Amino acid sequence: MPLQPQPNLPILTSPILLLGGGGHALVVAEAAALAGATIAGFFDDDAGALLARLGVCTRLGSLADVAGMTGPRILCIGDVGARRRLAARLDLSNAATVIHPRAFVSPSAIVGGGVFIGPGAVIHAKARIGDHAIVNSGAIIEHECVIGSNTHIAPGSVLGGNVSVGPGTLVGLGASVLPGTTIGSGATIGAGAVVVRDVGDNATVKGVPATS
Ligand SMILES: CC(C)(COP(=O)(O)OP(=O)(O)OC[C@H]1O[C@@H](n2cnc3c(N)ncnc32)[C@H](O)[C@@H]1OP(=O)(O)O)[C@@H](O)C(=O)NCCC(=O)NCCS
Repeated sequence: MPLQPQPNLPILTSPILLLGGGGHALVVAEAAALAGATIAGFFDDDAGALLARLGVCTRLGSLADVAGMTGPRILCIGDVGARRRLAARLDLSNAATVIHPRAFVSPSAIVGGGVFIGPGAVIHAKARIGDHAIVNSGAIIEHECVIGSNTHIAPGSVLGGNVSVGPGTLVGLGASVLPGTTIGSGATIGAGAVVVRDVGDNATVKGVPATS
């Protein structure tokens, strides 16, 4: 079967609402702009949030004010716990997926709504990325991996083929996960860890090899 260039990717509709105005929002805003989208503004409970201080875009209100909005939006908070709490109380149904133009997404991969894929990230064949997940700068998701919703694959992490990561999990900076491994939901993989065996729900592991 001939493959079309990235036919599965969502069309980036504009203008986008950024939910959060900190460091991760800055990265998402730049990627969205490079991908050709416009930003309507951001919502953050902190009126002096980074995006406002840097003059990147306008603060439209606190996160509670998102309730009255209809435009496409993306959750822009890196912390997995905060994401989980916000996802439970905000309407994320009109979700915008932002893919940095320097990311590679296989045409056979499936990317959910509200996902952010950072510069240099690689999503290989038949991988599936759940809604509102983050695949951050330079992360590599090998073939047939399944990434749960709201999971954050931090910069420089490498997941071997057929790895499964549950929802709401953090795979920390530069961690490696051996092929075929299963990581549960709500888990935390420490920065630099090498995961060589399955990790349960809500577990925290770190080190080489990773242990709790
Ligand atoms: C593993 C982790 C979750 C532990 O957090 P924590 O429970 O708050 O741990 P602490 O900072 O209290 O450190 C506890 C011990 O673990 C060690 N430790 C902390 N992180 C470690 C890591 N990634 N690998 C190995 N050891 C680590 C500390 O040195 C300390 O050791 P000590 O008791 O001998 O002094 C955290 O350090 C981590 O790596 N988080 C990932 C962060 C990340 O990558 N975020 C993505 C940003 S985009």
